[in-house]
Formats: sequence, structure tokens, C-alpha cells
Amino acid sequence: MDQLSVKDEFKKQPISILFVCLGNICRSPSADGIMHHLVEKEGSQDLIKIDSAGTYGGHTGALPDARMRQHAAKRGYELTHRSRKVRTQDFEDFDLIIAMDDNNFEDLQLYAPSSEARKKIHRMTDYLQKIPIDHVPDPYYQGADGFEKVLDILEDACAGLLLSIRKGITI
Ligand code: 4NP
Repeated sequence: MDQLSVKDEFKKQPISILFVCLGNICRSPSADGIMHHLVEKEGSQDLIKIDSAGTYGGHTGALPDARMRQHAAKRGYELTHRSRKVRTQDFEDFDLIIAMDDNNFEDLQLYAPSSEARKKIHRMTDYLQKIPIDHVPDPYYQGADGFEKVLDILEDACAGLLLSIRKGITI
């Protein structure tokens, strides 16, 4: 299959993705912003729905953390998502629910309303192609390096996720 036909095949299958972290102000809105950027670059925005949420609702309505927005902006990502908590309806509305770390993964397992819903939960780090790490570290109490590391990991994983969607594999 040449490149054009791979893209055409991919275009026939809409998919919806929800990125999940704890507060929905650092990691998952960054994954959301990076994925939007990649999807828009290849013109697939009508077929790939992207959103993010947190397992903790304490920052509901807030923009991403100012430090996260600043670091993301340096790489060309404008983060405008407003924080919200994961809801039961998300397990109906999204095909893939992607956790940033083991705590998020375990919380999502508890929230899932059925065994079918539980199958939608994946780990962000399963899509990494270059960086060897098994979770996206929480940068909230870290310095600038922590935020840069999150963006490095998320750029790698979002590229891998898009590739796996294109190939029809979602892990
Ligand atoms: P996030 O980071 O889960 O990547 O959005 C955090 C944001 C807020 C808190 C912890 C982590 N908090 O404790 O409020």
C-alpha cells in the first residue's frame, strides 16, 4: 500500500481519544495539545476527536498550569483546554482512554462501568517509540526540567499513537 492509500484507509475509521492524568492541568492537556497539533498537520481533524480529563476534579474549569503552558508554547503548542474530571459517559463517548501513569490507570479501572469499558483503557507510555520509561512523571512539584521531560515523552508517545492508529493497531 502506498502512502496515499494508507491515509485513505485511515480516513475511513473515525476514532476518539481521551487523555487522562490526575489534575488535567499539566500532562493530559499537553498530550491533548500535541495530538491536536499532529492531527491538524496531517489534516485528519474531522476523523480524530481528542479531549482530556483528570481523575481529580479540584482544578475544574482552570487553564493548564502556567508553567506547562509556557514550556509548551516554546515548542509551538498553545494549551487552551479547561480542566474537567473524568465522567462515566466518557467510557461511552471515547474509543481510547489513555492514562499517564499507574495511579491514573488504576483509578480509571475502578471508574469503568463495564468490562467492555475497561478494555478502552491504555497507558500513554505503551506508544513510546524512543524514550524508555513506563509512566509520564507528574511535573507539578518539579522544576523546569520536569516540564521539558513531560513534553519530550508526550511528543514521542503522540507520534507513536498516531502511527498505531494509522496501522489500525491501538495496543
Ligand atoms: P497533572 O499534574 O496530573 O499532570 O495535571 C498535577 C496537577 C495538580 C496536582 C497534581 C498533579 N495537584 O496536586 O493539585
